[in-house]
Amino acid sequence: MFSQDTYRARRQKLTEKMGDGLVLILGNADSSMNYKDNVYHFRQDSNFLYFFGLDIQNLAGLIDLNSGEEVLFGDDFTIDDIIWMGPQASMQEQAAKVGVKKTMPFKHLFNYVGDAVKQGRKIHFTPPYRGENKLMLYELTGIPASQQQEQASLELIKAIVDLRSVKEAGEIAELKKAAAAGYEMHVAAMKMAMPGVWEQTIAGTIEGISLANGNPPSFPIILSQNGETLHNHDHSNLLQEGKLMLVDAGAQTSMYYASDFTRTSPVGGKFSQQQREVYEVVLAANNQATGLAKPGVSYLSVHLEVAKVIVSGLKELGLMKGDVDTAVQAGAHALFMPHGLGHMMGLDVHDMEDLGQIYVGYDDEIRPSNQFGTASLRLGRKLQPGFVITNEPGIYFIPALMDKWKTEKINTDFINFDRLEAYRNFGGIRLEDDLLITENGCELLGERIPITPDEVEATMK
Ligand code: GLY
Ligand code: MN
Ligand code: MN
Repeated sequence: MFSQDTYRARRQKLTEKMGDGLVLILGNADSSMNYKDNVYHFRQDSNFLYFFGLDIQNLAGLIDLNSGEEVLFGDDFTIDDIIWMGPQASMQEQAAKVGVKKTMPFKHLFNYVGDAVKQGRKIHFTPPYRGENKLMLYELTGIPASQQQEQASLELIKAIVDLRSVKEAGEIAELKKAAAAGYEMHVAAMKMAMPGVWEQTIAGTIEGISLANGNPPSFPIILSQNGETLHNHDHSNLLQEGKLMLVDAGAQTSMYYASDFTRTSPVGGKFSQQQREVYEVVLAANNQATGLAKPGVSYLSVHLEVAKVIVSGLKELGLMKGDVDTAVQAGAHALFMPHGLGHMMGLDVHDMEDLGQIYVGYDDEIRPSNQFGTASLRLGRKLQPGFVITNEPGIYFIPALMDKWKTEKINTDFINFDRLEAYRNFGGIRLEDDLLITENGCELLGERIPITPDEVEATMK
């Protein structure tokens, strides 16, 4: 954990940004897999971790914005708990670790919040995403689950986004640890990418590396020789010579800070000419983003510049045609890259996505696009020092999408559909790095995982 001063200062800043009422931050409970006591690996809520730091089940943090009172609700371990789970610090000792003076048994939360509701006070809460907390919120406030999303506090959401978007030095140090673990995961995967190896064997191995570094991966591992499926969680294939293995995976440290990298390796260790040509275009796109990302520049504009690199590269390969700027305006690049360039990252791999992407990635000045492809961009707003973001361009040959555009004659001015046939079984390439925005530009988080075709081949030897 960070020091108690860190958590105290964060709650102080939150209080200063807000007006009246109670801020209620529910921690997470255990979630059952297949029977009550067989639970998923516990993952604390990220907002709770940010303000109240404790990685323990069944807690709630409360801040009275008017009186300044802070309370941690939770129960001391009983003798039964201690027999099964071992000794634990008391609630009072736990609270002291994060600079909270007052604790109360969890059941007192119901009266505390109930009284405030009766007095007509505002209860600020974030949109709940787990069934357990939707039920809890209903019992506390009487707001049914179906209305909790819209009744969540916009004031609280915006204040949290302001705070969590700019990473503190301690957070950056944690993110670098997550990057180092991600490096290990990806190099291990590259070395294993040989014909006759099961995808599942590699996915399981690198999942273990994340666990050994603190926690399970920051999201379910994407690892497939069918990388044209953007979020392919199926790992049931035997790797075949001539395919590309796309691995999109990141670690989570013991404090739950994330990394998120993608590398694409030739099964067997040697890129074909065709693979290398497309790969170089994706690499140029990734390098373009790193060259452009700096404070004051919108990530939407970086996304669009990267799209131009992709169109130019694909024109040289004979797959696209026409004017580059016009093609990007028309959204023709999205046949090959139907996703966004990147997102915020921190305690969540898609940082603060529970609060609503629109508040995290956009603002009054930069609004989301509704054009296919660019509409999937999670981060569009202007970058600031201290933002941690991903840079993840890709080129994919998605047969169903190619066929749809060809049949429906979409963007025929910019795409050489006949030439695409030779790429039908190509798969996909994505190259993802994690960036810290600095005062003048950006820097990569952690040592760069082998990325040039020569580096990848050398690693696989
Ligand atoms: N979770 C996949 C990605 O955003 O890269
Ligand atoms: Mn990723
Ligand atoms: Mn990502």
